[in-house]
Amino acid sequence: MTKSPIGGNRSGRKLGQKIKKGKLKASSRRWLERHINDPYVQRAQLEGYRARAAFKLLEIDEKHKILSGARRIIDLGAAPGSWSQIAAKVTNSTDADPRVAAIDFLEMDPIPGVRFLQMDFLDPQAPEKLKEAIGGTPDLVLSDMAAPTTGHRQTDHLRTMHLCEVAAHFAVDVLAEGGHFLAKTFQGGTERDLLNMLKQNFRQVIHVKPASSRAESVEMFLLAKGFKGRQKAGTETETEEEAAE
Ligand SMILES: C[S@@+](CC[C@H](N)C(=O)[O-])C[C@H]1O[C@@H](n2cnc3c(N)ncnc32)[C@H](O)[C@@H]1O
Repeated sequence: MTKSPIGGNRSGRKLGQKIKKGKLKASSRRWLERHINDPYVQRAQLEGYRARAAFKLLEIDEKHKILSGARRIIDLGAAPGSWSQIAAKVTNSTDADPRVAAIDFLEMDPIPGVRFLQMDFLDPQAPEKLKEAIGGTPDLVLSDMAAPTTGHRQTDHLRTMHLCEVAAHFAVDVLAEGGHFLAKTFQGGTERDLLNMLKQNFRQVIHVKPASSRAESVEMFLLAKGFKGRQKAGTETETEEEAAE
């Protein structure tokens, strides 16, 4: 079970630390203070995860059970790799029998059992390369992709929404029947057409906001559960409303 680290600090490092005024710009100092005082950052270090993002996936799974039963997983926008670490663990993936394929245009240190492609997911060759790398039909497609920030909020949102949309079409193209798709999106950002496409193809489509996703962030996750299969698209979706946690 994923325990919320809020209010407690199990890493032994003090919370509420301040960075001395001086060399850093005020905005950088604030970022650094928030980072070192973030209980999820401290807990990720303690538990050997490469990023605090691990807890978003674990919290979503705790409620929606998407990891148990997954035999092959594709991780889009994987670096630095905490979701891939979890994916490798739950699939018992090894280098001899890899069950996780991951992609990012940034470098990622190797993770045993994870086949990593360093390339842009929007490259037209990326889908085929991922299919080759996974070596079988995946039952879970994860996307934590966020477009690099430009400083222009609306542009950043639109780019990340585009990544979510391309990821959703990829999921429908590769998933095994009964499989799930989880992707980063923004509050109020999911396009109606994308939601309709997902509702046609999955039995349940919801929005979720795990506690470890910062409250001030407009980040949300779109979860589409129970892929109907490529033959059965268009049949009725059992749960149609979107639910925020
Ligand atoms: C929030 S981070 C992912 C963190 C990751 N889930 C983890 O647990 O370590 C988002 C990642 O998406 C990647 N990304 C964004 N756009 C991408 C694209 N077009 N192709 C591949 N990766 C992309 C970024 O480079 C970044 O590493």
